[in-house]
Amino acid sequence: MRAYDIIYKKREGQNLNKDELEFLINGYVEGDIPDYQMSAWAMAVYFQGMDAEETANLTMLMAESGDMIDLSPIEGIKVDKHSTGGVGDTTTLVLAPLVASAGIPVAKMSGRGLGHTGGTIDKLESIPSFNTSLARDKFFDNVNQHGIAVVGQTGNLTPADKKLYALRDVTATVESIPLIASSIMSKKLAGGADAIVLDVKVGNGAFMKNFDSAKKLAEAMVAIGKEVGRDTRAYITDMNQPLGNAVGNALEVKEAIKTLKGEGPEDLTELCIELGAGMLQLAGKITDIEEGKKILRENLQNGKALDKFSEMISAQGGNAKVIEDLSLLPIAESTFEVKAEKDGYISEIKALDVGLSAMILGAGRENKESVIDLAAGLEIKKKFAAPVNKGDTLAVLHYNECDNIEEAKEKLLRAFTITEEKKDKNQLIYEIIK
Ligand code: URA
Ligand code: CA
Repeated sequence: MRAYDIIYKKREGQNLNKDELEFLINGYVEGDIPDYQMSAWAMAVYFQGMDAEETANLTMLMAESGDMIDLSPIEGIKVDKHSTGGVGDTTTLVLAPLVASAGIPVAKMSGRGLGHTGGTIDKLESIPSFNTSLARDKFFDNVNQHGIAVVGQTGNLTPADKKLYALRDVTATVESIPLIASSIMSKKLAGGADAIVLDVKVGNGAFMKNFDSAKKLAEAMVAIGKEVGRDTRAYITDMNQPLGNAVGNALEVKEAIKTLKGEGPEDLTELCIELGAGMLQLAGKITDIEEGKKILRENLQNGKALDKFSEMISAQGGNAKVIEDLSLLPIAESTFEVKAEKDGYISEIKALDVGLSAMILGAGRENKESVIDLAAGLEIKKKFAAPVNKGDTLAVLHYNECDNIEEAKEKLLRAFTITEEKKDKNQLIYEIIK
């Protein structure tokens, strides 16, 4: 077999069989196939696409290129959840204890963030002494004992995807549906999930800017799940404004605690209830989705979800007193209120600019070496469609030392559009693909 012939075949729009993909992926990981041939292939895929079987084969090959985590020491059906990424997405922090409180095992491996805010692991590390790097056995024990553990990724997971994603990033081949779908799903499969709930974000703050491309991505990932025998469901959800009010690590932990007390922002709460009910259904806990939502709503009100979060924090060495006393979380030295310059209604919040503003304040990583300021970030005070008067606070910035504070203020102010007419609110969940 020759890489040349495989590239040629794809360039001409033919499907590649499993052996050909295996030759390519394994050869690439081992260094036998150079970047220039792999990028030519990726560009051919970008233009010619891949069918469902090819995409599933590529996904499995990438998943199997490194460690495959075996979650069988944990009893029950393990449902994982993945978000394609948005701004201020506090979902996992709420969802993990919430679904665990309803009795399904949560064995979550999360990443650190390269983006506007940290990933779930960075956020959790704003809880004093919380340990995100449990040994594998301890991780399993915690899930079996407490029904929940959230840890950082360890080991050699999907090296083929790591290498290929980095290559796509510099060769203008990221935006290919089959390549994105296989990249995301390979990581979920290597993580050992039996079933997968996907939150595919669409909007100005998301990877997918329009509904059609988000739907195609959702369908491609659900199709991979079918091909490889893992029940997969995708929710296409709105990311035309940040989710909830907080953007930033400790600020999002605070928001998660409020939400687990049943006092959280409406959009974040609703999304967690919807995704959570889907997870309960895939785990076989309930058949009727409405019943699942009812259980989860109750657990936000009766304290069970919050207790589960507290139990998880203690089990991972953290100080669970944060739940009663939010001042134990990192707090920034300075705050600044960004104010409306005129009367009207909020007709747009450019989520991406909100995210960038948070990153300038220190909440996110601009590159792998950046150090996150866990206390930094911002709180949105006026969301989409809210009425405002000139001088009302639109958002509060939280920061310590910040060289570019003026830029952060300006970016945030310009992220809001205020118009005389009130626009209708966006739907939160556009479609569910099963
Ligand atoms: N996220 C991923 O993990 N992979 C992609 O290819 C794109 C987004
Ligand atoms: Ca949030």
